Amino acid sequence: MKMIIAANWKMHKTAAEAASFCLDIRQREEQFKGIEVLICPPFTALSAAASELKGSKVKLGAQNMHWEPKGAQTGEISAGMLKEFGVEYVILGHSERRHLMAEDSSRIRPKVEAAFQNKLKPILCVGETEDQREKGITEQVLEEQLSGVLKELEVDRPEDLVVAYEPVWAIGTGKAASADDAERAAQYIKKCLAELLTAGGAEKVRIQYGGSVKAENINEFVSSPAVHGALVGGASLEVDSFSSLVEAAGKAVSN
Ligand code: PGA
Repeated sequence: MKMIIAANWKMHKTAAEAASFCLDIRQREEQFKGIEVLICPPFTALSAAASELKGSKVKLGAQNMHWEPKGAQTGEISAGMLKEFGVEYVILGHSERRHLMAEDSSRIRPKVEAAFQNKLKPILCVGETEDQREKGITEQVLEEQLSGVLKELEVDRPEDLVVAYEPVWAIGTGKAASADDAERAAQYIKKCLAELLTAGGAEKVRIQYGGSVKAENINEFVSSPAVHGALVGGASLEVDSFSSLVEAAGKAVSN
């Protein structure tokens, strides 16, 4: 299964800054061996990033979308609008949206469904808060977040689904989970997926780890058997740090 490393830029970079990043990363992409790499800029930078990435093996993702194809949804963006720029992936249910925008499964589920219907590949984010971890309910939280979105959902192409395990306490804190914690959570996610998807489906889903991933620790995560890549925030904002991270992952995978 090919490793997938995604840059989640969050609310960073103007269109001009995104274009300059993409121009630079193209000089480095020959080093990205054995890894599927994608960049998820803010909506306003998608067009500029798409132009610079034309013909590149670096792919494009979005950070959110609405489930309706069009309509009276002020401030929202549809799957069709994303596809116009060649977007292939869409991050859905990121913890910042769950916590800052009060998104829950009742909203994330139709988004995932609409992504599949429009042939966009969803990166579904799940993960526990520090408080939930301390209470020992991490597995319960993961199970609820997964079943709230995927239960009885028709997933014809499980190979197009990516689940990002992102413990909330590790995001942007510099305090990454241990590789053991990430592996244990990824194994548990696989177990839940085996119950939620049709036979054999769970084996085709890639599970990323996210939360303070950088060039110095990516090796530990991609060496974990159930982890198939990373969702990277802070370390994806500079071409040097992101390229070094992808190159380190490539080396770890080829060993
Ligand atoms: P971080 O963010 O790498 O800055 O911790 C990860 C994410 O939120 O996807």
